Amino acid sequence: MNAKVNVLGIAGSPRRGGNTDILLERAIAGARDAGADTQTIVLCDLNIAPCLHCDGCLKEGRCVVEDDMQRVYPKLREADRLIIAAPVFFMGLAAQTKIMIDRCQALWAMKYVLKQPVALNSGGERKGLFVSVGGTGFARLFEPSLATIKSFFVVLDMKLAGEVTFARIDEKGAIRQHPTALQQAYDAGKKLVEN
Ligand SMILES: Cc1cc2nc3c(=O)[nH]c(=O)nc-3n(C[C@H](O)[C@H](O)[C@H](O)COP(=O)(O)O)c2cc1C
Repeated sequence: MNAKVNVLGIAGSPRRGGNTDILLERAIAGARDAGADTQTIVLCDLNIAPCLHCDGCLKEGRCVVEDDMQRVYPKLREADRLIIAAPVFFMGLAAQTKIMIDRCQALWAMKYVLKQPVALNSGGERKGLFVSVGGTGFARLFEPSLATIKSFFVVLDMKLAGEVTFARIDEKGAIRQHPTALQQAYDAGKKLVEN
């Protein structure tokens, strides 16, 4: 019997129960209904310091900073699918998310300096989904965040399989009033596992 697809959700907003949390919960529900094993990490509940650029990771591919990120690395490496949800802050990713990504410089070192495999999953090709909202309707609102997410996924050996993004969503919970957003997030999570 095939092992279940293992899906990791990352809640990257500082606002618990906010718009990206709501969308992430729906995407994870879709993945679970498609038969996946799911778990979600809430970054604002963790103690994760920013990268120091000390180059300590270049020796062994391991970050020398001992904090909750040490528990996140294996989850990132073992996931078959990743759903990362973060709002737009000053035209980029919310800091909680960017700090976690910057700490993946250790995985970059593992891959490009030490030539070691980053992915430890057993389920073949890895795929990820990016979920975001922004309060304004600015042109190219999600492009800076997406550039970072794409670069992060390259390091993780993960294909960007989709994006679920909504502009003009600002108040906490406003996404619930959107006519299709919750269903879109659910469908995207389901498709991420089924395809
Ligand atoms: C510090 C901060 C910076 C923000 N910067 C932007 C921005 O540059 N562009 C934008 O459209 N919305 C911006 N917003 C609005 C958030 O993207 C918006 O409120 C979003 O719905 C928050 O999502 P959440 O509920 O998942 O945290 C900002 C909000 C905060 C608190």
